[in-house]
Amino acid sequence: MTPLVGDELSHRVSVSVPAKVNLQLSIGALRADGYHDLVTVFQAVSLYDEVTVTAADRLSVRVAGAGTDAVPTDRTNLAARAAELLAEEVGMVPLVGIDITKRIPVAGGMAGGSADAAAALVACNTLWRLGFSTEELHPIAARLGSDVPFSLLGGTAVGEGRGEILKALPTFRPIHWALAFAHHPLSTPSVYRELDRLRGADVDPIELAQPLLDALDAGDPVALGEALSNDAEQAALTLAPHLGTLLNWGSTAGALGSIVSGTGPTCAFLGRDEAHARDMAAELAELPLCRRAEYAYGPVDGPKVVPDEH
Ligand code: C5P
Repeated sequence: MTPLVGDELSHRVSVSVPAKVNLQLSIGALRADGYHDLVTVFQAVSLYDEVTVTAADRLSVRVAGAGTDAVPTDRTNLAARAAELLAEEVGMVPLVGIDITKRIPVAGGMAGGSADAAAALVACNTLWRLGFSTEELHPIAARLGSDVPFSLLGGTAVGEGRGEILKALPTFRPIHWALAFAHHPLSTPSVYRELDRLRGADVDPIELAQPLLDALDAGDPVALGEALSNDAEQAALTLAPHLGTLLNWGSTAGALGSIVSGTGPTCAFLGRDEAHARDMAAELAELPLCRRAEYAYGPVDGPKVVPDEH
């Protein structure tokens, strides 16, 4: 086994990584492997976690930021598993301390854990000078979780399979969101289970929504608002009924579209423009239904190494 100690300049690497929303989340039948086939359109948005890996004598994880009590700091943390899997791939021991500073809500439907795993892959790839490309990291990302490959890619992309088969979509105009971090964290499997319970075996075929692609192509926020869709929404609302009140708030605030983000409970409100989205975020922050609210725009690039100031 090779010791993983770099020189003074490279003993620590920080990576900033964005959250995602799903502009379309169409969920097909439950598969034999326990996953559901998806057709989804992911978009990375400007809400970032930061993951720093530092050469150390053992693998460890520390998490800072709001609402992080529920994040494991042992080897079940997805970022730790990412470091382990990447090290295993090249026959090394993952001797790193991982520090995660969270702004992406935990169990919020914005792929925060997946983002941290993608960031850990990029950070360790850089620290250990492995030189893997994003494409080469993709299979490792897919083993870590269905959303991790997109978290590695960023931008806007169509996801199929269980979400790991990706095709980048060019998006020409920024999309402005108000994000409401609602109370009541929802675990992804529980929402999928509830969806299966609600709809039984009767599942419609799923396909990419042409009106959504047209709206993205035209950069038309009104058409985009009408084309947003999320099959997980009903299940999230059943498990967390206050989200219905939150989504209704979107109509009164003039949002062009109001959706549960992924499996929730974060709700995303599409603004007419940046000023409108910022205003909505400021109002949402005052609602007792939310822990926190933020403005964000998409699409943004995937994980980026943060230049070292030292
Ligand atoms: O892939 P990941 O570990 O992030 O998925 C977490 C859980 O979400 C899975 O165990 C499964 O219950 C559910 N899931 C699913 N279908 C997908 C993606 C996730 O049922 N396409």
